[in-house]
Amino acid sequence: MTSNQAAWLLKANTPLEVGDAPMPTPGPNELVIRNAAIGINPLDFHMQQSGVFVQQWPAIFGCDVAGKVHEVGAEVRGRFKKGDRVIGHAINLVSGRPQDAAFALYTVVPADKAAILPDAIPFTQGVVVPFALEAAVCALSLKQPGIAMPGVSTPALGLPYPSLEPASSGKSIVVYGGSSSVGSMTTQLATAAGIKVISIVSARNFDLSIECGAVEVFDYHDSSFVEKVVEAVAKSGQEFVGIFDAVSTPETYANDLVILGKLGGGHLACVHPPPDAVPENVKAGMIFGVDDVATPVWRDYVTLALQAGKLKCLPSPLIVGTGLEQIQEALRKCEAGVSATKLVVEL
Ligand SMILES: NC(=O)c1ccc[n+]([C@@H]2O[C@H](COP(=O)([O-])OP(=O)(O)OC[C@H]3O[C@@H](n4cnc5c(N)ncnc54)[C@H](OP(=O)(O)O)[C@@H]3O)[C@@H](O)[C@H]2O)c1
Repeated sequence: MTSNQAAWLLKANTPLEVGDAPMPTPGPNELVIRNAAIGINPLDFHMQQSGVFVQQWPAIFGCDVAGKVHEVGAEVRGRFKKGDRVIGHAINLVSGRPQDAAFALYTVVPADKAAILPDAIPFTQGVVVPFALEAAVCALSLKQPGIAMPGVSTPALGLPYPSLEPASSGKSIVVYGGSSSVGSMTTQLATAAGIKVISIVSARNFDLSIECGAVEVFDYHDSSFVEKVVEAVAKSGQEFVGIFDAVSTPETYANDLVILGKLGGGHLACVHPPPDAVPENVKAGMIFGVDDVATPVWRDYVTLALQAGKLKCLPSPLIVGTGLEQIQEALRKCEAGVSATKLVVEL
């Protein structure tokens, strides 16, 4: 008889405790995955510390999984079978159900938020993709603003989905924080949608951002980087869409508004609530990284693009250790901050 274990949060601001967990079963359009690797996101340590977004105690959380399909829901026709190697986006953040969380041996994932992982890609690499990918699609391709949180709408840039053979869209976008997980994935997907990306990163991460597709990179430690970004956008001859700010702090917002002010306005897509007051020509919103807008990308793009090397598992993982017990240490490292890497635990 198969049994499950999870890293449980019994109450906010306490260490995770590894213990038995119910063995999940899939709903009609879901998969149960036997996780081989899980990824750590900044959201996770916020959830641990404050209990924010926890809907059910004791809680399990975590968003990124890679592993083998253990069980397939009755309506999941054809796309997956038991034993397939997959990556998946676990959506406990919206469902609140412990079985939909990554920090366990077995996790339920909607089939529309999973994709086959090509054999050549290790689980520890593939697992860097899911949440960042969905957040990037939410940043780029929503057509209508939705609700990110009470009183805060999502951005709606309405940009095309990524494609294996992108045609130029004639558009450009600035990605601020291009070496972060979400920033580097947004750079990849925008590039694969034919959009020119101008990226703001540390000089030490220029190569990563260029590998993700950025056509120009600027160091945010350079005192004149804002002017240089404005000049690069203006010179590009592309229609300027706006900024995806993957950092979203008071400091980056001040710079965003200068860049947008000099370029005649545009979208400001943030990862946290946007600045309170923005000029009329700026459309500001906060992404919410779980949305069905990502379904066509999961279904039609991810596996083929991974196979063709057109979607890269970047930033590269840093494997913290093996076993559910290592998740606590990975959360500690995440809180301390990372540069151009995704923290990963093998199971
Ligand atoms: N709203 C949502 O749905 C949603 C979804 C996903 C993530 N998020 C949020 O988005 C943020 C990013 O998440 P993540 O997982 O991508 O983070 P991450 O990979 O942990 O971010 C670390 C990176 O941020 C870069 N960075 C930090 N300060 C910077 C600055 N001032 N300018 C440029 N780059 C800077 C660092 O670059 P250097 O090392 O090069 O300095 C580092 O590589 C987090 O706050 C997360 O909570 C929100």
